[in-house]
Amino acid sequence: MSSKSRWATDDDPETEAILAQRKREKEEQRRAKAEKQRQLDEQQAQASASDSQPQDPDTTAPPKKRRRLSNDHNEDQPIPTANNEPNILSFPAQEWGPCRNIANFERLNHIEEGSYGYVSRAKDINTGEVVALKKLKMDNSPDGFPVTGLREIQTLLEARHQNIVYLREVVMGTKMDEVYLVMDFLEHDLKTLLDDMSEPFLPSEIKTILLQVLSGLDFLHDQWIMHRDLKTSNLLLNNRGEVKIADFGMARYYGDPPPKLTQLVVTLWYRSPELLLGAEKYSTEIDMWSIGCIFGELLTKEPLLQGKNEVDQVSKIFALTGPPTQQTWPEFRSLPNAKSLRLPPTSSAPTGTPPLLSRAKFPFLTNAGLHLLSSLLALNPSTRLSTKECLAHRYFREDPRPKPKEMFPTFPSKAGMEKRRRRETPEAPKRGQEAPKLDFASVFGGQSSGDTGEQGAGFTLRLG
Ligand SMILES: Nc1ncnc2c1ncn2[C@@H]1O[C@H](COP(=O)(O)OP(=O)(O)OP(=O)(O)O)[C@@H](O)[C@H]1O
Ligand SMILES: [Mg+2]
Repeated sequence: MSSKSRWATDDDPETEAILAQRKREKEEQRRAKAEKQRQLDEQQAQASASDSQPQDPDTTAPPKKRRRLSNDHNEDQPIPTANNEPNILSFPAQEWGPCRNIANFERLNHIEEGSYGYVSRAKDINTGEVVALKKLKMDNSPDGFPVTGLREIQTLLEARHQNIVYLREVVMGTKMDEVYLVMDFLEHDLKTLLDDMSEPFLPSEIKTILLQVLSGLDFLHDQWIMHRDLKTSNLLLNNRGEVKIADFGMARYYGDPPPKLTQLVVTLWYRSPELLLGAEKYSTEIDMWSIGCIFGELLTKEPLLQGKNEVDQVSKIFALTGPPTQQTWPEFRSLPNAKSLRLPPTSSAPTGTPPLLSRAKFPFLTNAGLHLLSSLLALNPSTRLSTKECLAHRYFREDPRPKPKEMFPTFPSKAGMEKRRRRETPEAPKRGQEAPKLDFASVFGGQSSGDTGEQGAGFTLRLG
């Protein structure tokens, strides 16, 4: 078959000539296009050679268009440059990159071994700055990395606030399982400080501390983060009177409505009654209960509710607050561990919203202060005050006013100087453990349990 057009015929020289002419024209067009492309490539190659960034000589691809990073200058004006330097915009944000190594730090002294990490004071060799290093404990982490550590890093990076400890970076050791959190160093935690003080803080100082803790917690709750382990040893204080919330190993995001969560959170002495009674759904109110315990501890210098175990903790709570009633906490009977609970006659229970705590335990607290404390230690989580309600409470506006941070006393820092003995306080719950099945029959004088007894709120408690 002929390769010519099917319209062409061998015996038509005129058509043959036209076809040949068209072929020549097409060939010319193709050559012109190739020449244009060659010139364009040459121009681009010259432009990239004059750029200050050295180019890979092997790179044949055209340079990528640089993304504009700032709106600071007028579109119509050229970007000003000094000494005819190339127009490169600086971008102050931190860049992603490999973690630095622990070799950049010189360890100064050990501070504390907690449940989830070893904390030391250290110096950044490059800057000379003193920091706190928390080496994450990798025990009991079958997945290779402890969830508590991941949560701590994730929430601390999100929670940038003046009353939350500042996580500077995460650094690695020589082995893959050596992970350190580098934080701003603060001279004290409130627990160690209270242990060493001969007198409690003054009311004006308590207000300064509480207001700062509440601001940090308010920020966290606004970010949908529950702390779930608030206690005095997790509140840090520096020598400028600044308080910061630390230890985010138990922290997690929550939702509305609250999801089903583990009940084994919050160190026993600071754990709310709904958690102890087995609530599977809980929310920020559990942090507010802990704040109530911390407030009481700041007032008396002693942890407020020092239960020996879960059952004893519930006994101690009811001894302080009085037992729940149908009026004060209608839902409590439906909580899993409340079924076995024997309560005294409701006539002995205090009334009011919230039921006021006994003044005898807090003789120096004003009426406003007692109201705030009672509203934080309200058994019914739905009547407990929120961070915003606390911050607006009249207690903080009445005399004595909160002491300005600059006037806050300074104390010698144990963390800055010496290894400390581990204190005899309950530890934070271990992750992954099941909440124990509890028998609360003994809370109000039932059969089981030990032989110790305690007088409280007008009724006798047997402690397990
Ligand atoms: N940034 C810091 N500056 C100074 N000291 C700190 C800092 N962070 C923690 N500490 C000290 O180390 C202690 C333990 O830290 P952290 O609570 O973070 O560890 P943990 O292992 O989770 O402890 P635990 O389970 O016992 O609560 C704190 O109580 C405090 O004394
Ligand atoms: Mg801690």
